[in-house]
Amino acid sequence: MKSKKILVTGGAGFIGSNLVDKLIEKNYEVAIVDNLSTGKKENINSKAEFYNVDILDNEKLERVFIKEKPEFISHHAAQIDVRKSVSDPVFDANINILGTLNLLELAKKYNVKKTVFASSGGAIYGEANIVPTPEEYPAEPISPYGVSKFSIEQYLNYYNEIFKLKFVALRYANVYGPRQDPLGEAGVVAIFCNKLLNNEQLIINGDGKQTRDFVYVGDIVKANILSFEKNIEGIFNIGTGLEISINELFDALIKISGIKMQKNYGQALKGEQMRSCLNADKIKQALGWKAGMSLESGLKAAWGKIIE
Ligand SMILES: NC(=O)c1ccc[n+]([C@@H]2O[C@H](COP(=O)([O-])OP(=O)(O)OC[C@H]3O[C@@H](n4cnc5c(N)ncnc54)[C@H](O)[C@@H]3O)[C@@H](O)[C@H]2O)c1
Repeated sequence: MKSKKILVTGGAGFIGSNLVDKLIEKNYEVAIVDNLSTGKKENINSKAEFYNVDILDNEKLERVFIKEKPEFISHHAAQIDVRKSVSDPVFDANINILGTLNLLELAKKYNVKKTVFASSGGAIYGEANIVPTPEEYPAEPISPYGVSKFSIEQYLNYYNEIFKLKFVALRYANVYGPRQDPLGEAGVVAIFCNKLLNNEQLIINGDGKQTRDFVYVGDIVKANILSFEKNIEGIFNIGTGLEISINELFDALIKISGIKMQKNYGQALKGEQMRSCLNADKIKQALGWKAGMSLESGLKAAWGKIIE
């Protein structure tokens, strides 16, 4: 039996493609919209309907809605590079705000039942003084990327309030796992793994004491699917609640890879957040979701894929 029809934007990217694979495995009908700007053709599940469409191209996007009639949207298409958002906030806002508004207008017009939005817990709270940080903590993003993610949450509230458009915004921590692009700026795990593979010296920015909450992509996929399947709405953190320093991450990867390398420290990045870790009690209470993958097992899986 075929179940719900889901439109996954960004379905050729790291998280989106992992989600599509699982949805197909669970017998969902899936359509993908992706302009392949960072996504890859080889990530695209052949059982999904693929549209090489930019979310800024409203006409083409509407044709996808007319043809596919999606019941649900999972919105992962975005420019994800925080540093790019700082150097070119207009570019970031174009894709992450205006592109998303195109999508939400169509969701409204074509009566989509629920939109699940890939938001960012790492970028929205800024340098919080409560860590792990809960959802009620004031959003004080310190990058245009964080501002655009938070803006979309506000728009989602507006569409919900005025047009009864249902939504779930999942504020991800630092996601890692197979298919993460090591060439981008976003994924420290992928960057470290790639350097180790090529036997290049890893440079830790600053003193390596900055912390992050590393959540495995498989756990992110589970949270997304539960958001479609269960009757929930609202904003939820998706993280492990565990603060891991970059020094600890380095040590764990050295152990897993068996490669010998000393720590090498570089300049601290200007404006880099010192601590980031999410309290995910709210989604645990609502859905029973909690991160199931330990860092060690997750890193083994990510490293295993890289050396395949
Ligand atoms: N990776 C993380 O740690 C993390 C953390 C928080 C939030 N997120 C969010 O999760 C989502 C997916 O991130 P990812 O890490 O998989 O990144 P990714 O770059 O692998 O995926 C983004 C996808 O969107 C596509 N895309 C970009 N601009 C587009 C456009 N204008 N039209 C159509 N498609 C477009 C890209 O080609 C790519 O396939 C993003 O919204 C990101 O902001 C990611």
